[in-house]
Amino acid sequence: MFKILKKEELSPNVFSMDIDAPRVAKKAQAGQFIVLRVDEKGERIPLTIANFNRETGVVNIVFQVIGASTMALAAVEPGESIIDFVGPLGQPSEIKKFDGTVVVVGGGIGVAPTFPIARAMKEAGNKVIAIMGAKTKDILIMEDEMKAVTDEILITTDDGSRGIKGFVTYAVQELAQRGEKIAQITAIGPVIMMKSVADCTRELGIPTVVSLNPIMVDGTGMCGGCRVQVGEETKFACVDGPEFDGHLVDFNALMSRQRMYRDLEAEEKDHICN
Ligand code: FES
Repeated sequence: MFKILKKEELSPNVFSMDIDAPRVAKKAQAGQFIVLRVDEKGERIPLTIANFNRETGVVNIVFQVIGASTMALAAVEPGESIIDFVGPLGQPSEIKKFDGTVVVVGGGIGVAPTFPIARAMKEAGNKVIAIMGAKTKDILIMEDEMKAVTDEILITTDDGSRGIKGFVTYAVQELAQRGEKIAQITAIGPVIMMKSVADCTRELGIPTVVSLNPIMVDGTGMCGGCRVQVGEETKFACVDGPEFDGHLVDFNALMSRQRMYRDLEAEEKDHICN
């Protein structure tokens, strides 16, 4: 059993949870994920690790309530426990000193998993810029945390209530226009956002990594549920990823698969709520 040490609602329906998971914390690296289950009947929920502390053994996750499973997770209170917390899974981010600026782009709750990547990139000696996007200023998350581990942050909001009005790609273009020598961009967020960033950086010639979070069942490469098309190859996000070359991912196929599962999940949530 894994005890919830802290729970905080960062913005409506977006929760941060500290979990007591020393073995996961000890091995975790930026870019990896965990798979959790709330109870015996619960579905497996894959979540990219938002933070970890090897000394205290605490792992932090950030999630949005979008269906029955995440609703059940949000209902767990500090002091209570969940049954499974397996990880760290997947390949870690490639952390090294780059010849140029490293940019992390987080959209919505995708900001959370960019945090350990930004921190590790900074620790490796890079200049790190974070682009943080949200629909509106009230749902921006982890701004202070990101400021602490980066050289600069650029905020974009769809409604213009903070920072640049528009999408995260506007900020990418702004950096390119001012002559920032960008060595690599890591983009994490909704699939449509990652696709837009990849389309934009393909034109700009900037290497781009995206972190995919498709439906996962076993998280061990056995079920095939998380398959994604990357260039000519079929890859499993759980063992080959979750990070892939954003210029090679077939985002259209990924979006149609996600749409199918989201409809099923919403149906299940309605069933529970009504
Ligand atoms: Fe089953 Fe990746 S989750 S193969």
